[in-house]
Amino acid sequence: MSSCTLLAAAKINWSLDVLGRRADGYHLLKMIMQRISLFDTVTVSIGAVDALSCDGNLPQDERNLAFRAWLLLKKELGLKDCLQIKVEKQIPAAAGLGGGSADAAAVLLAANRLLKLGLKGEELAPLALSLGADVPFCLLGGAALAEGIGEILTPLPGLPAYHLVVANPGIGVSTPEIFRAFDAIQPPPPPIDTEGLLKALKAGDIPAIGGLLANHLEWATLKKYPVVAKLKEDMSAAGLYPLMSGSGASVFGLAVGAEEAEAAAERLAAAWPLVYQVHTL
Ligand code: C5P
Repeated sequence: MSSCTLLAAAKINWSLDVLGRRADGYHLLKMIMQRISLFDTVTVSIGAVDALSCDGNLPQDERNLAFRAWLLLKKELGLKDCLQIKVEKQIPAAAGLGGGSADAAAVLLAANRLLKLGLKGEELAPLALSLGADVPFCLLGGAALAEGIGEILTPLPGLPAYHLVVANPGIGVSTPEIFRAFDAIQPPPPPIDTEGLLKALKAGDIPAIGGLLANHLEWATLKKYPVVAKLKEDMSAAGLYPLMSGSGASVFGLAVGAEEAEAAAERLAAAWPLVYQVHTL
């Protein structure tokens, strides 16, 4: 085997509850995270030097989390190998869909396989966490309850499949900036019924899920970027239950079925630049 190609899946947050803030500025969260069928493609091959190629107008050096993931693994394990990493983007960047985190996790998994390192998930998890709070979830996949800063993961196997439309208004959002804006909101937003939402997700009760979807960071992002509120309105008008994902600016809309998702996606694509019909994984 001289190369290894993996799909790196985007994520959405069915919920995102900000519970508090640590001394180092990171926030304590309670989130239901879900992988979806929107993918980047990550290929690693043995090379003469370490190099990254990445489309989508993104950095080709250590500023790119995919490259940092390899350099970290190499340093931690004292490896001599060099890898050429190719990232083909489909997931919008800085969009609340975890694209960079998914690419980084895919690099760790692909390098582990290509170089026959034999590392187990629990050995990769601390490296993943040092790359970013969402990276450990990306190693795991499926759906999970995420606590701590996002690294304490409880897998949620066996959830029904859901049909979604994901749309992005074509703007990039800075996550630290949104968390800072959230901290200034007084009084803080009400708590989120994560347990109720989990029950509804397990039961496949779409109207109940729709009523319980909640993301505290919407309070900050919608205020700063009213275009995200407009996108949510358009999703509701198209028959979807909408929620912003992560710190935004992407919004996903839950559809009652695949046909409804397709019709809504077609309608939204007439007005919005980046629209994807997806399902949960
Ligand atoms: O960990 P990651 O680099 O993805 O996080 C980006 C930024 O988002 C952090 O620098 C921090 O400002 C904010 N963040 C946070 N609490 C979390 C996750 C991220 O405050 N649990």
